[in-house]
Amino acid sequence: MSRHLGKLMVAVVLTVGMIGTYWVTETRAQPRPIRPAAFAEPAAPRGPEGDALRMIHEGRQTFRYDTFGDEAFWGETLKLQRAIGGQKLGGVGPGLSPKAALGVGLKVDMEALPPDLVQKIRANQVDLDDPATTLVLLQMDAVVGVRAFTHDGIIKAVGITCALCHSTVDDAFAPGIGRRLDGWPNRDLNVGKIISLAPELKPLTDRLGVTEAELKKVLLSWGPGKYDAEVIHDGKALRPDGKSAATLLPAAFGLSGINLHTYTGWGSVTHWNAYVAVTQMHGKGTFFDPRMKDEKKFPLAAKNGDWNIRNEPDLVTSKLPALHFYQLSLVAPRPPAGSFDTAAAARGQVVFNGKADCKRCHVPPLFSEPGWPMHTADEIGIDDFQAKRSPDGRYRTTPLAGLFAHSKGGFYHDGRFATLKDVVEHYNGHFKLKLSDAEIKDLVEYLKSL
Ligand code: HEC
Ligand code: HEC
Repeated sequence: MSRHLGKLMVAVVLTVGMIGTYWVTETRAQPRPIRPAAFAEPAAPRGPEGDALRMIHEGRQTFRYDTFGDEAFWGETLKLQRAIGGQKLGGVGPGLSPKAALGVGLKVDMEALPPDLVQKIRANQVDLDDPATTLVLLQMDAVVGVRAFTHDGIIKAVGITCALCHSTVDDAFAPGIGRRLDGWPNRDLNVGKIISLAPELKPLTDRLGVTEAELKKVLLSWGPGKYDAEVIHDGKALRPDGKSAATLLPAAFGLSGINLHTYTGWGSVTHWNAYVAVTQMHGKGTFFDPRMKDEKKFPLAAKNGDWNIRNEPDLVTSKLPALHFYQLSLVAPRPPAGSFDTAAAARGQVVFNGKADCKRCHVPPLFSEPGWPMHTADEIGIDDFQAKRSPDGRYRTTPLAGLFAHSKGGFYHDGRFATLKDVVEHYNGHFKLKLSDAEIKDLVEYLKSL
């Protein structure tokens, strides 16, 4: 550990160092309240405007900081914090130093760090190779989407929030360290790798009926920017072609006006929020979707009763209204000036609405269909594996605004098309559009401008 570490760091690190003693006899962590609003309460006007502002602020807190009690799973059951602390702090393995954390795609919220710490990081006076520093960052709520639960000042459990997968940072300070960008999917995040570090994977191997080695193979097959939100319900870890069944983390912005959500249109934003919070994050709440009581499609859900989960107390349901509101308030970001050719984009718009007729599904300015925006795999010329893992068996027309913010990892639900040009060429072949090379180029510029 750097000998230049500041007083604050030393104090916290010393406490964290005592974790070894406590970790041996892990007791129930004391949940902390959601941290006080990072944003001054708005001078709320009366009527709907004031209500809307209050909902947005409350929803933002939930989106960023609420674990819905899921630390009972990630912390107490899987004991993920032991992998973060590593052997040196009484856990297992080498631990997750800040550098290693950034390496698996975790992001650091620089606005959560006290100015003197920012100074020290700038002056290279903080040891970014020491897992103890990661624990300090966690205690400051500076690791986006991961929250630490302390007992007597010691981290006893970690939990996850929506922001883990659906926020990133603007890299204003350094790569991976900056201001939060809520709704932007974190396409650097290696969720599978992070889960695979957990010392206790039995709950997952039992559920899926696989060995630990098999489970780890699947988790590591996901790679950065991907997660499989269905595998614990259907047990389908691999596609028929042997590739990973994981999908790209999607944007959680630009969703207002869209009827159905997820790549396969499972339901509304709030349906999916309850689904994720309860069945994926393992928060404590209520989730009811009898479509999943289907032994063929969702054998594990039918067997385990995932379609009807009731927890007491329910830490999710009361937060759904504001959480829904917040996501609908996240408009798609505009592409930076200079990131596309405006003249070509204007020509591309004509192709989009005319010769290529993309607009019959991607209806501007929503870029999805008002109504029921669902299509069979055949209609869009791809396989139906992922579609068939959802209740309606179809793919939803993806809204296209803000594509630039999630081009890393590729396009379509599984990133099968590496670039927008590949997407357009796919459509050109499938719909026999006979687009010229120039038209393809213009169409791509138009997509980049959305
Ligand atoms: C572990 C990563 C992860 C976490 C945590 C997570 N999500 Fe997601 N989210 C995904 C993935 C992957 C999908 C795509 C699922 C699919 O299509 O099958 C998704 C889909 C969505 C969608 C649909 C987007 C669209 O295009 O329609 C919304 C909305 C959403 N998540 C919101 C949330 C909220 C709110 C939370 C917290 C309660 C949350 N997610 C937590 C990974 C995550
Ligand atoms: C029949 C309806 C339909 C038509 C016509 C259509 N699309 Fe799509 N589009 C979809 C669906 C459905 C998806 C989601 C596919 C997936 O995720 O696997 C999609 C996905 C996309 C994506 C990927 C978005 C992302 O975030 O991954 C792009 C880009 C796109 N379409 C552009 C176009 C362009 C350009 C055209 C015209 C050449 C077009 N689409 C025509 C239905 C359509």
